[in-house]
Amino acid sequence: MPSNMLADRIADTSEHANGVTERNGEVSDAFRYVEVKPRLHQLNTHRSCEEKTLVDVVGEISTRIRSIDHLDGIISPSIRSATNTPRSATFHPSHFEAHPMLIDAWEALRRSLVYFRGMPVGTIAALDPTEDSLNYNQVFVRDFFPSALAFLMNGEPEIVKNFLIKTLRLQALTKRIDNFTLGAGVMPASFKVLHDANRSTDTMIADFGESAIGRVAPVDSGFWWIILLRAYTKSTGDHTLADLPDFQRGMQLILSLCLSEGFDTFPTLLCADGCCMVDRRMGIYGYPVEIQSLFFLALRCARVLLKPEGGGKEFIERIDKRLHALSFHMREYFWLDFEQLNNIYRYKTEEYSHTAVNKFNVIPDSIPEWVFDFMPMKGGYFIGNVSPARMDFRWFCIGNCVAILSSLATPEQEAAIMDLFEERWQDLVGEMPLKVTYPALENHEWRIVTGCDPKNTRWSYHNGGSWPVLLWLFTAACIKTGRPQMARRAIELAERRLSNDHWPEYYDGKLGRYIGKQARKMQTWSIAGYLVAKMMLEDPSHLGMIALEEDKKMKPTLTRSASF
Ligand code: GLC
Repeated sequence: MPSNMLADRIADTSEHANGVTERNGEVSDAFRYVEVKPRLHQLNTHRSCEEKTLVDVVGEISTRIRSIDHLDGIISPSIRSATNTPRSATFHPSHFEAHPMLIDAWEALRRSLVYFRGMPVGTIAALDPTEDSLNYNQVFVRDFFPSALAFLMNGEPEIVKNFLIKTLRLQALTKRIDNFTLGAGVMPASFKVLHDANRSTDTMIADFGESAIGRVAPVDSGFWWIILLRAYTKSTGDHTLADLPDFQRGMQLILSLCLSEGFDTFPTLLCADGCCMVDRRMGIYGYPVEIQSLFFLALRCARVLLKPEGGGKEFIERIDKRLHALSFHMREYFWLDFEQLNNIYRYKTEEYSHTAVNKFNVIPDSIPEWVFDFMPMKGGYFIGNVSPARMDFRWFCIGNCVAILSSLATPEQEAAIMDLFEERWQDLVGEMPLKVTYPALENHEWRIVTGCDPKNTRWSYHNGGSWPVLLWLFTAACIKTGRPQMARRAIELAERRLSNDHWPEYYDGKLGRYIGKQARKMQTWSIAGYLVAKMMLEDPSHLGMIALEEDKKMKPTLTRSASF
């Protein structure tokens, strides 16, 4: 790249827009890599020695054996997928026998690309011509994740690389909200690119929660970023990006935020409401399962990517300790199945000392009625939240699916989560996959918990709405647990309507039958979620990008409360 272009680019990213200033004027090493093409020769050398493992794994999955042993050692054959998915906008459908929705989806995904100085850096949240864009004209970090997977699976890693570099640069800004300076590691929830046609300049403006509705903290962004960095590395075989000092430092900054010691007595991460995909008040404050699962997966990904040099060793040690404690805590205290529900129902209260069975002093009367009917004899799930005297029994989709992908769930728990999907298909999948959470809050509870939110009325939006984007996560969980037929069933449901309905953001109603009250159309992650689900089913080895096999060292060893 000519040096003047590099200088322009750096000038443009050091904008002092909306109170955001650069922490230091240093030129990031990472920028030198922006336009480096994927190292295909590197891909090939990796492939030759790993071909056997790959074949084994695909064979295993397609013969429905649940184990994904060796998945960690494979590279997804993006090239293979490329033969079945249009690689460019000029693609001719006549050469391509596939579901017509796939072509529609690829075209829509490419239309959603956002450019910075002529370089694709992300995808816009929604391109709905019929609605006021509000903040949907931004690139959200979490929303880009399924888009990124689609591009990686299609053999187009450049955009993902650009995104990782640009967001790392945004992390390096000094982030101030009113007079308060945010932690150095915070990743933005979203960013937008402003094009000034007169000056021919592009400006990047990041949102760290300051202008988002209700000042919600994007706790999940840093986790998605680390998970995407591993997916990129895994898919391309290009370790040079993650190995860069800037990237190692970016990871360490995120880890400093979430591994820091405070007053907590739990290894789970304490969060404010609205800290993840559920980004409005929905009573998920405390220790939401969505964040705990992402935290666990991000720690495991960072564990793979961190180098011991430059302070990395210390982080690796802290990660190992935290993973151990976190897996124990989640598997023991968040897990609910018929037997455990019965145990809680019979809990004594006011127990003290180390022999307490009811460790969090949960009052059995606080168990909601619905959960007794919802819980099948076969099946189980990680509940929404656990803190002193409070168990949120609601079921959350992302938390449970990511628990499967990260192997936070034991093999038995993974199978039980999938059994629950089977047993409660109408409730969790209904007519449009999938419910973000179950059940909906209604009446008095809705008033108190959501603060009378008109968007989060019962069975709508975050309050029991059905989100097609979740299809990719569900499909990945199905493949990892050897149940691809369940994913196929869900995808068929989506194919009946999604494209005809113009890719809504979410659906409403107990069965997800109605297009969401305020749902955007042409919502990018609905499109990308479908594409990723299809590509994974067609080529299950893609799963290696986002899933990790069980770490046998993390088997819980404690049987009762241990505080010493
Ligand atoms: C909504 C969702 C949030 C998403 C954003 C952009 O606010 O709740 O998770 O990131 O829209 O699509």
